[in-house]
Amino acid sequence: MLHYTREDIQNLPSLERMHLINSSGGLKSANLIGSISEEGHTNLAVFNSVIHLGSKPPMLSFMLRPTTVSRHTYNNLKKTHCFSVNHIHVDFIDKAHQTSAKYEEGVSEFKEVGLTEEYIEDFKAPFVKESKIKMGCSYVNEYFIKEHQCRLIIGQIEHLVADENVIGKDGFLDLYKANSAGIIGLDGYVETQLLERFAYARPDQELKPLK
Ligand SMILES: Cc1cc2nc3c(=O)[nH]c(=O)nc-3n(C[C@H](O)[C@H](O)[C@H](O)COP(=O)(O)O)c2cc1C
Repeated sequence: MLHYTREDIQNLPSLERMHLINSSGGLKSANLIGSISEEGHTNLAVFNSVIHLGSKPPMLSFMLRPTTVSRHTYNNLKKTHCFSVNHIHVDFIDKAHQTSAKYEEGVSEFKEVGLTEEYIEDFKAPFVKESKIKMGCSYVNEYFIKEHQCRLIIGQIEHLVADENVIGKDGFLDLYKANSAGIIGLDGYVETQLLERFAYARPDQELKPLK
């Protein structure tokens, strides 16, 4: 096994350090966040930091990088108070990744990468039509993290839209059936495979697979 101390990590060439640390936290979710400006320009960007916060009320969060450069997703959701979160599937990882390029404000990544805008009634932000699992969120709050100048953005899930073939009877979303991708670090995309689901674990009971 190789062992890196904090000092070793600090002394690595920056790209190597970035790859090492970005992939060390494990597999991450792969989502496209859709938003719209007050002027009606749509925006789409890949995010690997979306995590659910709780189900009652249904909430999620994502990490926003420092606003030392213009962040279109952030600017839009601060103005319109809404955004969409769309799963990235295996068949469009290249298009999804391309949304991370620094397009000018007013240039829609939907058009640039070839993904389709889709709307639901009374919700301003665009969804990704090609995505089988998507959520429409209202912007609730944000927490500035002074240690690295990032912001944790909190969204309330107002709409959840999912292909009926990927929703199980108990509400479990089968991301494997949906072909949702996962992300390693900042540029590695993986497919998922369901190995097993387990019944609720209790200290005095043998662990049982769910049928
Ligand atoms: C795989 C991947 C994951 C990313 N995840 C995030 C993230 O979680 N938070 C973030 O602020 N930027 C993230 N980015 C960078 C944004 O996609 C990129 O800055 C994009 O240009 C933002 O677009 P916007 O200015 O239109 O919002 C990620 C980039 C890649 C390639």
